[in-house]
Amino acid sequence: MAPHSTGSPEAPDERWWKEAVAYQIYPRSFNDSDGDGIGDIPGITERVEYLDALGIDVVWLCPVYASPQADNGYDISDYRSIAAEFGTMDDWDALLEALHAHDMRLLMDLVVNHTSDEHEWFQRSRRRDGAYEDYYYWRDGGEDEHGDPTPPNNWGSFMGGSAWTYDELRGQWYLHLYDEKQPDLNWRNPEVRDEIASLVEWWLEKGIDGFRLDAINVISKPEGLPDGSGDTHPTGVELFSHGPRAHDYLRELYDRTFADYDVVTVGEMGETTVDIASEYMGGDGVGLDMLFHFEHMDVDVGPRGRWDPEGWGDWSLPEFKRIMSRWQTQLEAGWNAQYLGNHDQPRIVSRFGDVAERSSAAQQTSSVDDERYRIESAKLLATFLLTTHGTPFIYQGEEIGMTNATFETFDELDDPMMIGAVEDYVAAGKADSPEELRDFWNFQSRDHARTPMQWSNDEHAGFTDGEPWFAVNENYRDINVEAARSDEQSIWHHYRRLIDLRHDEVALVYGEYELLLPDHEQVYAYTRTLDESQILVVLNWSDEPATVDFGHTDGDLDVSDLRVRLSNYDETPSTPGERPLRPFEAVVYRN
Ligand code: NOJ
Repeated sequence: MAPHSTGSPEAPDERWWKEAVAYQIYPRSFNDSDGDGIGDIPGITERVEYLDALGIDVVWLCPVYASPQADNGYDISDYRSIAAEFGTMDDWDALLEALHAHDMRLLMDLVVNHTSDEHEWFQRSRRRDGAYEDYYYWRDGGEDEHGDPTPPNNWGSFMGGSAWTYDELRGQWYLHLYDEKQPDLNWRNPEVRDEIASLVEWWLEKGIDGFRLDAINVISKPEGLPDGSGDTHPTGVELFSHGPRAHDYLRELYDRTFADYDVVTVGEMGETTVDIASEYMGGDGVGLDMLFHFEHMDVDVGPRGRWDPEGWGDWSLPEFKRIMSRWQTQLEAGWNAQYLGNHDQPRIVSRFGDVAERSSAAQQTSSVDDERYRIESAKLLATFLLTTHGTPFIYQGEEIGMTNATFETFDELDDPMMIGAVEDYVAAGKADSPEELRDFWNFQSRDHARTPMQWSNDEHAGFTDGEPWFAVNENYRDINVEAARSDEQSIWHHYRRLIDLRHDEVALVYGEYELLLPDHEQVYAYTRTLDESQILVVLNWSDEPATVDFGHTDGDLDVSDLRVRLSNYDETPSTPGERPLRPFEAVVYRN
């Protein structure tokens, strides 16, 4: 770990993972070491010094286990081996060693709501092979009025279509809340829970530092698997999210495994409010340390959710502040995990920052000249991420301001979730062709986050010597790590300075958060206070100048006491509110 302040005597329950800055790696798209066009583990090891130079303490590695890659590794066929395209177990051991040698820790991705259909357990379950018979949810279906077979209930899959697929060999339907190649494990079966505890223990014994727990809110399904209301997406989610035994299962797993190790757990939890979250966390409760909620990810989606192609795009800063502040102040147990993007979300600067519409002429010259405030707004987003309460998770490429890609045709998409949503919409007769939804997928597809990491302006952005598995964003000639590191004013250096600041200022980790100016339409301002230390963060989250007046805020803020600690513009106002903030101006003050 990088050296950290020890905190104040009053600082609550100090832990390494609260003081850490985390970096998420999507291995397929990070760095290819062997020229097959697919990122791999040795490629990550080559970049350990890069992560160290940025100041990273923890790496969260998306799945690298054996997998047919129907969902880029979230479909695991063997939990104790590494996918051949990512390397070998020896490569993985070398990565762990390299990270630990640089005082960085490693979180693995634990995907145990489902396996791959190619996992041996599923293959044996299909054949009703002894104990494996009930490892998954198998049910008989029904018949409709024409005598055609119908699935056991009306639940929908997150990947579109029904959550059930008929298996000829077994002669029954199996449940898959995600892709049909991702059958759901039956956590009701104690032998399944034994298997999960045993694989968790196996990885903990290998010396990892924690897990991110995939889709952990959907592991418990309600008794009898009743039909859903049909008002939610996917149908039935109100029943299978936070199901009746979710707490018991996680508590049991915690007691059997995590409780004995100095590790961190971060649950991925859709459909989660701050009250629900608090119930899952803390050693005296269910045991999770942190969780990724989605409330701020829903701020700009349509009324029927992320995968509905209608009503998306707009968002309001006061609403965003309300959501974030709720989490900053009302989490009763546990700790926030802060993120703005990840491998399932659009690029943050395209979504919450400012990247002007790119004309097709500009695309052809691969220019980024038509951008307006990409650099300033990317730095503002970084400032927010690294100065709020909770462990910040930076997603690969955010540190250089990587943007959304442009996908002209439906065929260019790879993400099964986006493809499923579009196909459902077309099948329902709401659009004549997938291409009608081009704007929607260019806004929301998970593919934006999965274009290869842009390392340099060499061919394929220096990601691979071969043909990349997925097209590199054309703007790599301008937006790349090499260029960013050689420019002291770059987004990359701003991240590095913010990470240093977070390591230096214990108030940024443990300090109390207080929101100022809640209704201001352009400015997000808050304080972080610990004992005598006070930090004020002022963010003009808009492309217009903004005026702020701290004279009318409540609380103990004395702006005359504050000095600029870090800013994303030269010549920042030395006192907050002294003059209007420039577009996307982001300033951290300290007393
Ligand atoms: C959440 C993961 O982040 C996502 O990429 C995956 O498709 C689903 N869970 C299913 O594992």
